Amino acid sequence: MGNTNCDNFFSIAQLTDIHLFADIEKSLVGIQTEASFQEVLGTIKQILPQVDLLLLTGDLTQDGSGASYDLLKRSLDSFAIPAYCLAGNHDDLSLMQTHLPSQYVHLKRSLDVGNWRILMLSSVVVGAVHGYLATSELAWLEENLTAYPDRPTLITFHHPASLLGSEWIDGICLQNQAEFWAICDRYPQVEVVLNGHAHQDFDQIYKTPHNAVRCLVTPSTCVQFQPQNHKFQIDNQPPGFRHLRLYADGSMETEVYRLEVGSFNPDLTAIGY
Ligand SMILES: [Fe+2]
Repeated sequence: MGNTNCDNFFSIAQLTDIHLFADIEKSLVGIQTEASFQEVLGTIKQILPQVDLLLLTGDLTQDGSGASYDLLKRSLDSFAIPAYCLAGNHDDLSLMQTHLPSQYVHLKRSLDVGNWRILMLSSVVVGAVHGYLATSELAWLEENLTAYPDRPTLITFHHPASLLGSEWIDGICLQNQAEFWAICDRYPQVEVVLNGHAHQDFDQIYKTPHNAVRCLVTPSTCVQFQPQNHKFQIDNQPPGFRHLRLYADGSMETEVYRLEVGSFNPDLTAIGY
């Protein structure tokens, strides 16, 4: 990507865990996922003066249908800002590859934004809810980090890379966290790790012996999970997204934005996640 009219940072909106159905009337835990997604997109347009790209970090669909990806593509095409998508445990990568790519929608593994590099990994284990970075993914990561030692780097994949303090969620996060962090430890240019899957806001510095990395998880554009609860529990917080500003000097600022309280209330009697 070339320079934008932003002075000195790249502005990124992360949307995650969209859980679309081919039938737009369908709900997840009482929330119409297409409607809440549209509301989040509208909010981004309304409150962010500039967005250079969208990052969609998995669970794009709930029913895994080609039609749900078509629906997503139509929305992203009319949003008309480059959108980079990666898969979550609910996704079907081969359907994503057939249905998603367009003028604005891309499936890529690496991306240069100004000084920064964004590396997009797959943590999906086919048929499983938890995440794992295969040896080939870790090797590819290390190869890239070796090749670009001077570029501040954001690594993103679906499953959280650190424990969130919630037993049931920690059980379905990235299973080989130690292997992943051992690589990050060797490459001081790793600045940010960005994930989804846990349907909640999480923002901590993860310290390894030789590195300190901002570790971020982002609310879903639909249903939220209650943080710090050891058992599965839906949260009443509204849908949201994350804004990130990547500065040329390697620094980063980020905030989570949510829709108005009460705009999309979960129906706790309709648990079917
Ligand atoms: Fe999800």
